[in-house]
Amino acid sequence: MVAEPQPLQTEVPGTLPGLPRAFGKYLLFDRIGRGGMAEIFLARMTTDLGGVRRVVVKEILPELSSDPGFTRLLVTEAKLAARLSHRNIVKVIDLGRESGRLFIAMDYVEGYDLNQLLRQLSRRRFPLPAQFALFVVREVLAALDYAHRASDGSGAPLAVVHRDVSPSNVLVSFEGEVSLCDFGIARALSPEHENPALGSQTTDPDESRIQRVRVAGKSAYMAPEHARGEEVDTRSDLFAAGILLWELCAGRRLYKGTEQEMMDMAQRGLVQPLPERGLPAQEKLQAVLDRALSVDPALRYQSAAKMLEDLDNYAISTQLMASQLRFSSFLTENFADEIVALRRARERAAEAAQLRPPVEVSEPEPVTAPSDPPPARPSPRPQRTRRSDAPSPLTAAQELAPAQTKAASRGPIVGVLLAAAVAALAWFALR
Ligand SMILES: Nc1ncnc2c1ncn2[C@@H]1O[C@H](COP(=O)(O)OP(=O)(O)OP(=O)(O)O)[C@@H](O)[C@H]1O
Ligand SMILES: [Mg+2]
Repeated sequence: MVAEPQPLQTEVPGTLPGLPRAFGKYLLFDRIGRGGMAEIFLARMTTDLGGVRRVVVKEILPELSSDPGFTRLLVTEAKLAARLSHRNIVKVIDLGRESGRLFIAMDYVEGYDLNQLLRQLSRRRFPLPAQFALFVVREVLAALDYAHRASDGSGAPLAVVHRDVSPSNVLVSFEGEVSLCDFGIARALSPEHENPALGSQTTDPDESRIQRVRVAGKSAYMAPEHARGEEVDTRSDLFAAGILLWELCAGRRLYKGTEQEMMDMAQRGLVQPLPERGLPAQEKLQAVLDRALSVDPALRYQSAAKMLEDLDNYAISTQLMASQLRFSSFLTENFADEIVALRRARERAAEAAQLRPPVEVSEPEPVTAPSDPPPARPSPRPQRTRRSDAPSPLTAAQELAPAQTKAASRGPIVGVLLAAAVAALAWFALR
């Protein structure tokens, strides 16, 4: 299945050109990805209490950073996203501008995105077992259920629509957690940002580049109304979740072809039945898919909660229920070597960053950053899950800070000892 594969780690850690690089309060030390609109860096930041924490910094490409319409929508959406607090949503912790480049900082998820996971599985010619396919989609739906119902402090709905529920935005940690990232960010790339009604003043001479960025690889997960450039709403996210479910269960992509062919198929919502995979009561799963993938949004699931409930019922009745613990065991049993290699590579990059001076130091310019808004409140309906598993800054501090402190405090002692040794030698020589 799924969009263009990206290399996991192409460069030798610690030797990336231009890294480590100071970026305001962040030290970028490893590049871990590159998407259509940004480069993704692993970074470390020092917390107010002096701890050290690992985060991800998404540095938006220059041509987009300098587009006023894009900037306005990105800031609006990122501020909304920063209000969301849920165990299946990657936490946005900062938004700013540095040397003209917009950036978003968020929690680091150590693991794979769904594209990477499926690529690893297809290398082994091993499909994702159905119980984990269902588990991943149920976790994504839990995130959507929360976000779609989120409201501000006064109870007004935030009207969050993700708009880009696709494999590269679903992160799977080695602990078996599933998190959705980039909430609402696709909106900044949508044609609305050129809509005069929204007050955009886009005069970017390189608009064709933005157009390409906007479309590349994304049509494969678009609901028909989205692909046709019509208004999208929360039900468009459920269509995309339906495609994820189809692809994870089928073990292959739904739409194939050129960008234009995929866009045509997406506009018509041409979805074939799930191939026979020998799943128990597959017709029940097909019924869920049929409803999620209805071309007419009115015939689709009207809420993520209802789709989640139907998937839960299917998983329970067919004994295809999985838990985070089991998913984690599956990942660690199958990818032990890759996990160790990935961790080592990132540790080496982190160590190299400590030994080498940063390339450049400057302060980020804040863009009315999401300064700890109160978490969004879901509308009054029972919640399913709500535990924050984000690594505490203190844990990260314990991991990295001692090495730094020791290195820093050893310097003067070594100097004094050397001076004493030189003086003693001179004294002996003069006697
Ligand atoms: N918080 C994170 N923790 C760990 N890895 C991440 C995180 N955010 C992004 N990544 C990795 O970086 C990759 C690139 O992310 P990015 O969002 O820039 O690109 P994309 O999702 O492929 O496309 P798009 O620009 O449409 O979002 C992701 O697919 C993922 O592998
Ligand atoms: Mg993304």
